[in-house]
Amino acid sequence: MRIADTADLWYKNAVVYCLDVETFLDADGDGVGDFAGLTQRVDYLAELGVTCLWLMPFYPSPRRDDGYDVQDMYGVDPRYGDHGDVVEFIRVTHDRGIRVIIDLVINHTSDRHPWFRRARSSKDSPYRDFYVWRADTPPDTSDQTMFPDVEDGIWTRDEKTGEHYLHHFFRHQPDLNTANPQVREAIERTMGFWLQMGVDGFRVDAVPFALNENTIDLQQHHAFDEPHDYLRALRGFLQRRSSGNGAGIMLGEVNLPHEEQVEFFGGDGGDQLTMQFDFLTNQKVFLAMARQDARPIAEALRSRPTGLPETCQYATFLRNHDELTLDLLDTDEREEIFAAFGPAEEMQLFGRGLRRRLPPMVDGDPRRLKMAYSLLFALPGTPVLFYGEEIGMGEELSLEGRAAVRTPMQWSAEKNGGFSAARPSRLPRPVVEGPYGPEHVNAADARRDAGSLLQHITRLCQRYRESPELGWGTMEIIEQPHQQVLAHRMVWRGSSMVLLHNLSPEPVVVGFELEDLSEGTELVDLLQPGACRLDAGRRSEIDLEGYGHRWLRVRRQEDPRLV
Ligand code: NOJ
Repeated sequence: MRIADTADLWYKNAVVYCLDVETFLDADGDGVGDFAGLTQRVDYLAELGVTCLWLMPFYPSPRRDDGYDVQDMYGVDPRYGDHGDVVEFIRVTHDRGIRVIIDLVINHTSDRHPWFRRARSSKDSPYRDFYVWRADTPPDTSDQTMFPDVEDGIWTRDEKTGEHYLHHFFRHQPDLNTANPQVREAIERTMGFWLQMGVDGFRVDAVPFALNENTIDLQQHHAFDEPHDYLRALRGFLQRRSSGNGAGIMLGEVNLPHEEQVEFFGGDGGDQLTMQFDFLTNQKVFLAMARQDARPIAEALRSRPTGLPETCQYATFLRNHDELTLDLLDTDEREEIFAAFGPAEEMQLFGRGLRRRLPPMVDGDPRRLKMAYSLLFALPGTPVLFYGEEIGMGEELSLEGRAAVRTPMQWSAEKNGGFSAARPSRLPRPVVEGPYGPEHVNAADARRDAGSLLQHITRLCQRYRESPELGWGTMEIIEQPHQQVLAHRMVWRGSSMVLLHNLSPEPVVVGFELEDLSEGTELVDLLQPGACRLDAGRRSEIDLEGYGHRWLRVRRQEDPRLV
């Protein structure tokens, strides 16, 4: 293992943390989170051990989709600060050894974006072709909208010109015509601008929709016959503008089965997205937790594409800012998860997911939570946390839709959870109430509690960072007799780790064999005191408590790492 390699493809063992400036910390007391507040909390994030922040959209926006309805891709919503504040934030963050990626919305804009205002003003507008129009009456597309509770299809008639425009998301979010070279160029210029401001890459929103058939079929005059050329061009642009060991990344949202994700990495060429979220594994983790049977996880990990270039990487996660979408599972599997983790209708969304955070799903069971986060960090790939997960925040179901999981960060037991000094009515969203409210769940208390989830996740960040086997290695499932246990091994350039997770509340003894190692090889526990040795049969037996988890490094004499 060469430690230097881990600094080159930095994202391969990064710890990513997603937050929304609006709900993180309000420094000026107007009720809304801002860059000045976020900058104050960079040291907290550094102490936690995250190495890359992903900022949700902070651009000027009517915020009818939490900022994913962008009105000005170059701007900063004045409620959060200005470009000066962004630059200061990036400088402080870089100084603490943390990188910054930002959401890049390439599929659509707000209907208030000047491009759309001009586009809809007349069929002859030079911006008309920035969006996708049809003159005929669209067929029934109710099965294609992403928000079936609000929209009845993906085409909306525009009064002024009498034509319909395409929108896969809300009707106030018209889809860009990504077949138009002017649109592609405009997106590149946006990337160029933010790279110049110092960001380290992008979380690219809704990627498959930006390469969708509706756009392509209707826009043949642009000869846009290879949609992935667009993604390839964006990556090429990124490489030209940022290279070397600080190279920028594109972390794409592609909620598709593994085999379909291959193309979005760029296949053998690896010349499209640098990273993709592993939605399938995420959904199978929840299935496995619901069943207390680890086999769905093993199956998902085994189905990951092999042979991708080393530069490609999967991002793993438990929860994010959206609903826990279960759309890659079949109906019965989805129902099992609903029954285990969100039986009430108010917990479910769009018939395909749960608008909940993890702790209330598992009734706040600290052992189960700690196991779940240990599993997240132990999965092959780069872990992504959503703000508040580290302290065990819950959701607020009285809020509409996905807002339930987007409440203000809970810093302390003080007013508004320490998020803002303003009157509660001025906050973008109320602070969680009840057992997960700030009087019970907050960062200040968690820092002082040696047994807190915060301390656990801090330790996981540290051990994950010193174990590139996890981010870089290849995975093997270890055969053992208990279906409730996931036993896997991560191997990278001669170094390896054995990871054990018990998904059930019952203790279990896990016996396994590592046939390529020799008798007496030591397995050192990285999370708690202890070690064991392989016997003459190259076997070991490890005790796991209910929801127990162990990270065991296979000790090698020549490995200089501290254990
Ligand atoms: C995916 C984002 O994660 C989600 O929050 C948003 O509503 C849609 N894309 C539309 O931008």
